[in-house]
Amino acid sequence: MTPSRTRISKAVIPAAGLGTRFLPATKATPKEMLPVVDKPAIQYVVEEAVSAGLSDVLMVTGRNKRPLEDHFDRNYELEEALRRKKDESRLARVQESSDLATMHYVRQGDPRGLGHAVLCAAPHVGDQPFAVLLGDDLIDPRDPLLSRMIQTQELHGGSVVALMEVDPAQIHLYGCAAVKGTDADDVVRVTDLVEKPDAADAPSNYAIIGRYVLDPAVFEVLSKTEPGRGGEIQLTDALQTLAGDETVGGPVHGVVFQGRRYDTGDRGDYLRAIVRLACEREDLGPDFRAWLHHYVTEEM
Ligand code: UTP
Repeated sequence: MTPSRTRISKAVIPAAGLGTRFLPATKATPKEMLPVVDKPAIQYVVEEAVSAGLSDVLMVTGRNKRPLEDHFDRNYELEEALRRKKDESRLARVQESSDLATMHYVRQGDPRGLGHAVLCAAPHVGDQPFAVLLGDDLIDPRDPLLSRMIQTQELHGGSVVALMEVDPAQIHLYGCAAVKGTDADDVVRVTDLVEKPDAADAPSNYAIIGRYVLDPAVFEVLSKTEPGRGGEIQLTDALQTLAGDETVGGPVHGVVFQGRRYDTGDRGDYLRAIVRLACEREDLGPDFRAWLHHYVTEEM
C-alpha cells in the first residue's frame, strides 16, 4: 500500500447520538451544544479541525439539528443589536463560529451507531482519506493530536486511530486496541480491536478516543458491517476488519495521546472540563480560582 499523497482536507463530525447520559438536558438540545464555559462543546471541536488544516466540515446531525446549524450560521438580528450597542467584542464572538469553516450537514435519520453515522458521510467524502472528530470529545487546544495523526497517515497510508492509556478497570467503557511498537515512541501498529471488552479479555489498556483519520475503504467495510454491541453499527468493528487485512485499506496505526481530553458526554468529565478551562481563562480565572479554593478548603 503506497502512503497517501493527497492532503487531507475534510473533517466529519458525528453529532447525531441521543445523548441519554445527559437527559433531561438533551431532550430538546443536542449534547454537543451544551456550553463548556461560554462556548458550546461542538465549537471547540470545529476549531480543532480548522487548526489542523481541515476547513471543510461535514456534521452528521439527527433530530434536534436546528441549534447546531444555527450556531454555525449568521444571526443578523443579534449582530445588528450588538452593532447598535457598539458592543464590538461580543459581536466578534458571535461572528467567530459562522466564519470558522465551510460547514455541510447530513442527516442520519435513525441513530444506528457511530459506524452508521460515518457511513452517512460517504457521498460527501468521496475517495480521499478524511478525519472524524466526535462532537462530544474535547481535546485541549494546547495538546495537538489531530495534526500528529494526519502526519502519521501521510507517512504510512491506511487509517489512524487515537489511543489513550486508561486504568484497566475502565477499559470496558472503550474500544480497545492490540498493538505492536513502531520506530516512533508515540505511534503503534494496531493489530486488532475489540469494542468495550471486559477487563479480563482486553488485549491492552489502550483505549480508542474520539479522533480518527480514515482511509475511504472504511465505507465499503461499514456497508457490510452487521450491528454489533448494543445493536449499533460500530466503527470499531469496521476498523477491526481493516486492521486484520491490510490489503483492504492499508494498515491501521495508533497515535498514543498523553494530553488533556474530556468526554463532554459524560457528566463528571463535562464538569471537570468546565472547571479546568474556567480556571485557566484570563478573564474568569483569577476570581473563579479564588472562589474554588475557598469552596474546597472552607465549605466542603
Ligand atoms: P455516544 O457513544 O456518546 O452515544 O456517541 P450517544 O447516543 O451520543 O450518547 P449516550 O451514550 O446516549 O449518552 C459518540 C459520538 O457518536 C455520535 C454521537 O453524537 C457522539 O458524538 N453518534 C452516536 C452518532 O452521530 N450517531 C449514532 O447513531 C451514535
